[in-house]
Amino acid sequence: MSEKALSMKEYIDEAEAALLHTYNRYQVVLDKGDGVYLYDMEGKKYLDFCAGIAVFALGYNNREYNDALKAQIDKIIHTSNYYYNVPAVEAAVKMKKVSGMDRVFFTNSGAEAIEGALKAARKYAYLKDGRTDHEILAMEHSFHGRTFGALSVTGNPHYREAFEPMIGNIRFAQLNDFDSVLSQVTDKTCAIIMETVQGEGGIYPAQEEFLKKVRALCDEKDILLILDEIQCGMGRTGYMYAWQRYGVKPDIMTTAKALGCGVPVAAFLMTEKVGAHSLTSGDHGTTYGGNPLACAAVSKVLDLFEKDNIIDNVRQVGAYLEEKLAALVDNYDFIEAHRGVGLMQGMVFSIPVGDIISRALEKGLILINAGTNIIRFVPPLVITRENVDDMIVILRDCLDEVKIS
Ligand SMILES: Cc1ncc(COP(=O)(O)O)c(C=O)c1O
Repeated sequence: MSEKALSMKEYIDEAEAALLHTYNRYQVVLDKGDGVYLYDMEGKKYLDFCAGIAVFALGYNNREYNDALKAQIDKIIHTSNYYYNVPAVEAAVKMKKVSGMDRVFFTNSGAEAIEGALKAARKYAYLKDGRTDHEILAMEHSFHGRTFGALSVTGNPHYREAFEPMIGNIRFAQLNDFDSVLSQVTDKTCAIIMETVQGEGGIYPAQEEFLKKVRALCDEKDILLILDEIQCGMGRTGYMYAWQRYGVKPDIMTTAKALGCGVPVAAFLMTEKVGAHSLTSGDHGTTYGGNPLACAAVSKVLDLFEKDNIIDNVRQVGAYLEEKLAALVDNYDFIEAHRGVGLMQGMVFSIPVGDIISRALEKGLILINAGTNIIRFVPPLVITRENVDDMIVILRDCLDEVKIS
């Protein structure tokens, strides 16, 4: 590549020539961000209702967050898990406090957190009966990531098919259908895994009664309940973790995305019961997971959540967003419904939403889909009512255009 800065179009051409084609990217090179706005290389401003897929909770260019990262870079970026480092200790203590869980293992991505959670569950069961044929029960329409373990428990055959065989001994049940869970549980089941609110699968919250029944079943049979909070966690539903809304505590949970607000970091956490009877020295590891830079991010993110009352904002603005989306459902016959919790909302269309999302981008609004016919609203958690109003104006424009065409 030449020394001279390229135009936006030229960067896109370079990208298409250099990167593996696993994404159909929009024709935009994003260059910088500020609060809830992003700017492309040509200076065009976008209101962001995607937040890097539910990641940038605090908004872009947050001064305190940036300063904390810069200070850590000047101290030390990486050590190794053979030594202790202060940011990891501080981050783990804060995570225990907000989650009520007892043990933390840091990873680099959500999928890796899922891998660790599955390994912990299998080891827990193995230590009980020495068997090596345990089963894991997952949910249809779920999404847990792209690595083999995570893919194996992802309830959408489309993601799995070309990569079969999966890890094996995985069964699927329907979310919010307790009978279907009962029909799939056997004496080999060691864990039940689900997202507390399904994200990619179409914004489906697990219902209170269902969660409580699954929890009771797990208690009765000593099956571990794994809640994937990678997308719905970190304040997005108006609770630090979505399961806290109903008080249905998992044995193992995963968290990522907004945990580092852009620095790649995730974690799986467990209760003392599981911690004491599962993974032990030599069972699991990672080079980068829990390094000082990533954990300085986690630590600062958790401080800012508290200081800036992020969860209160989610509750207030989330309710407002829901109200505004409900009003749209009544106005357009191609909108079927909306559903969601807090600032994790989905709008269900009877038509594919790709065209609407492209039109929005053109008009300076970033939205994403969940499947072909759902628009997902997962903005930074610092958005205001005014931002919601601005978003609705642009969205309405797009919907009106689609209605006419
Ligand atoms: C619920 C859920 N679990 C797991 C993952 C995988 O996380 P990552 O992309 O960081 O590997 C995602 C990613 O979107 C997710 O939404």
